Parts: sequence; structure tokens; C-alpha cells
Amino acid sequence: MNQPTRRTFLKTASAAVAASSLGSIAAGAHAAGDDTLKVGLIGCGGRGTGAAAQALNAHPKNVLVAMADAFGDKLESSLNVLKGQGGIAERVQVDDGGKHVGIDGYKKLIEQVDVVLMATPPHFRPEHVRAAVEAGKHCFVEKPVSVDGPGTRSILESTEMAAKKGLTIVSGLCWRYHPAKRETIARIHDGEIGEITAMRCSYLTRGLWSHARQPGWSDLDFQMRNWLYYTWLSGDHTAEQHIHSLDKTAWAMHDVYPTKVSGVGGRIARTADIYGHVYDHFAVEFEYETGLRTFSRCRQQNGTDVDVTDHVYGTKGYVDVMAHRQFDLNGNQVWRYKGPNANMYQVEHNEMFAAIRAGEPINNGEYMAKSTLMAIAGRESAYSGKTITLDSVLNSETKLGPADYSGAVDFPKTAIPGVTSPLA
Ligand SMILES: NC(=O)c1ccc[n+]([C@@H]2O[C@H](COP(=O)([O-])OP(=O)(O)OC[C@H]3O[C@@H](n4cnc5c(N)ncnc54)[C@H](O)[C@@H]3O)[C@@H](O)[C@H]2O)c1
Repeated sequence: MNQPTRRTFLKTASAAVAASSLGSIAAGAHAAGDDTLKVGLIGCGGRGTGAAAQALNAHPKNVLVAMADAFGDKLESSLNVLKGQGGIAERVQVDDGGKHVGIDGYKKLIEQVDVVLMATPPHFRPEHVRAAVEAGKHCFVEKPVSVDGPGTRSILESTEMAAKKGLTIVSGLCWRYHPAKRETIARIHDGEIGEITAMRCSYLTRGLWSHARQPGWSDLDFQMRNWLYYTWLSGDHTAEQHIHSLDKTAWAMHDVYPTKVSGVGGRIARTADIYGHVYDHFAVEFEYETGLRTFSRCRQQNGTDVDVTDHVYGTKGYVDVMAHRQFDLNGNQVWRYKGPNANMYQVEHNEMFAAIRAGEPINNGEYMAKSTLMAIAGRESAYSGKTITLDSVLNSETKLGPADYSGAVDFPKTAIPGVTSPLA
């Protein structure tokens, strides 16, 4: 059968990593085979717990051996959920030595696993991706992947390093793994609607969760427990949530990104202290080098109408991406996806683990970084009221968040257009 044992599989993998750090290897860095892969999860909240289950469901020899979370209660509740799931419970093998509580817990976890799942708030992602890639580990990386320019540059560097090492990076920009969306975007790529003339996208939704302050929580604990509402942690909701829409426009464009952005936004309905300092609505216009424009908007306000849709317009017709339908210029439907469907969250893990085992790495690093940059630049334009370039944000030096996580943290103020400066 020539199937490698776990020992030879990992030996080959680490030999490949060692060789690649000398710049001598890329493709085929991992021996093909069907052996055990040890998985670790950093960030054991809702999405991380889901991702861990999907990783285990992706292959019968995937085993969860380590979990890291800033908070012990979050780790334990995630572990309990996973241990209660049929079909995977016996492969949840996280003993005390595999539990890592605290902000530095990821370091030990990375040593213990072959594949790292990352689902903390995005502020921490650049550090986690870099550490995992430096250690030669494959990564599943939830979106968004950074909150500022230095973080985005770091992700791009890690992406390049991963490519040199033949490591897989799969992004949590999950629509790219959705069968119907894949076929819809493929039709755009095949020229079915002609040349793209404009795009628009909406992520209008309602409010999300928050947690009242508990006795014993420090200011840092409070902000981390309510991370959605702090730009240094979440990137604001244009990055944390609306990135899905922005990424679909990038996908339609073959990952050609806009260069300029002009946004408006504010905070009018969600103003209580519990909601930190982020905005509750944005409308952002992106401009490409060719003059093409994407019009985007997002909102998180209770009692409002939900609209999560994306349209791509072309010289021959247009596409409603979320509905998987194509129309001619008169608005007549000319195509609708009727193929099989699948859970995109599962598909991304199935494809990731198949790629790792086949030694044919997937690397989604560049688009996950650049779509994040698009979102951050939109936010900065709205915060400042200035038209800015994506490059100015990418090259900015300001790193959001405290210098370290041991002392006091400020409560940032809400940005005021015309007063607040964009990241520099
Ligand atoms: N792809 C999708 O559709 C999708 C859906 C939901 C969330 N997400 C993304 O997944 C990430 C997590 O979101 P969530 O909804 O699971 O949030 P969550 O609050 O439920 O989970 C985040 C977890 O990370 C932990 N954490 C915070 N800082 C940490 C650190 N430095 N080290 C280790 N653990 C830390 C928290 O304690 C918490 O348990 C976010 O980036 C979010 O945007 C993606």
C-alpha cells in the first residue's frame, strides 16, 4: 500500500519544513498518505468550536489534542460541546496537558499539533499565523485576519513563508467554499455577464450579543469578552462581518483589489456603553484603477430590515450572487443554480485536510489579507471622513491595541469624521 505511518508522515513533513526554510522546497512538502493529524484550536468560542467539529468530521484520523483560550470557562464549555457530539467525541482527546489558558497559551499548543485552527478575535491572528507557520504547521484561519496595517503586512509575510514551506493556509472566508457560489462566480469569470461594470453589496443585519460586566473582570477582560465592540479587537463590523461581502466582490474580480476608498458611517442606534466605541453603520465606495466602483454598505441595528445580498453587473447582464441567479440586461432570469449543495464550513475543512494529506497545499493567504485590508481601509475612510488609498493603510505603522496584555487598557473613543485621522 505504501501508506506512510504517522512517524514517517510527520518526519517527512518536518524534513520538508527544514528544507524549505533553506528555500529549497515548495510543492509536495508533505508526504501523501492517510495518517493521523493532530489538530489544535486557538479561540474556543462559537466559531472555533464549530471549526473543531468540522475538522474532526473531515477525516476519521483527525484528532483534537489541544485547545487554547484566553479564558478557562470558554475552553471548558467548548470541550464539553465537542465531547458531546456523536461521531467525533472519541477523537476529542484533550487532556490537561493539552489545555492552555491565557493569551500566551497558543505557543505551547502550536508545539503539540500538526494543524492549527484559529478563531480568536482577529486582533491576535497575525501573531498566531506567524507562530504557526514559523513552526511549520498548517493553518485554518478565520476571517478577518487583522485589524490594522502592520497586522495585514504580517499576514502577507506569513503567507509567503507558508508557500515556501509548502504549508496549507485555508481561510474562513467560507463563501469561497460554497458550491452554488462557486458556480455563480465561475460564470462571471467565464464572461457570462460580459465585462464587469459595477458591483454592490450589503450586509444589513441586527445587533449581536454582548456580556454584562461581572465582578472580578479587569478592563481588559471586559473588552475581550465584548470584543466585537472594540476596533482594536474586531476591526469593527465592516471587517468582522461585512468582510464576507467585500471578499465576494474581490473573488468576482479574480482578486484584483480597489485602490481608493471613500466611506461614511456612524453610531446612532447602538450607543450604550456596553457596545464599546464601534460604529453601527457604514456605506463605503471602493474605486479600482480602471475607474470601476463597488458600492458597499453594512449595518447592525435592531428593528431594521435584514439585507445580505451582492450583485455584480456586467455589459451583458448581472448576477445575484447570494441567490445564485443570472439575469439579462432587461432583468429576465437566464440561469439559476440547481446543483447539489453542501455545508461550506464542512467543505473548507474537507478540502483543507485532503490537501494536507495529498501534499498539495492550498494557500488562501493573499486574498484573506487583502480582503481584510479592503474592510479596514473602508473603516478608516469612514472614521476619518477622508478619501484614502488601500496602500496608505497597508503601509501604516499604527498598531491597534495595548502594547502588552498585562496592564491597564484604555477605553477608546468613537471616531469622529473630520476630527479622527486615518491610520498612519
Ligand atoms: N466564517 C464565519 O462565517 C464566521 C462566523 C462567526 C465568527 N467568525 C470569526 O471567528 C472568530 C471568532 O468568532 P466567534 O464568534 O467564535 O467569537 P467568540 O467570542 O464566540 O469566540 C472567540 C474566543 O476566542 C477567545 N480568545 C480571545 N482572545 C484570545 C487569545 N488571545 N487567545 C486565545 N483565545 C482568545 C475568547 O475567549 C473566545 O472564547 C472571529 O474572527 C469571527 O469574525 C467567522
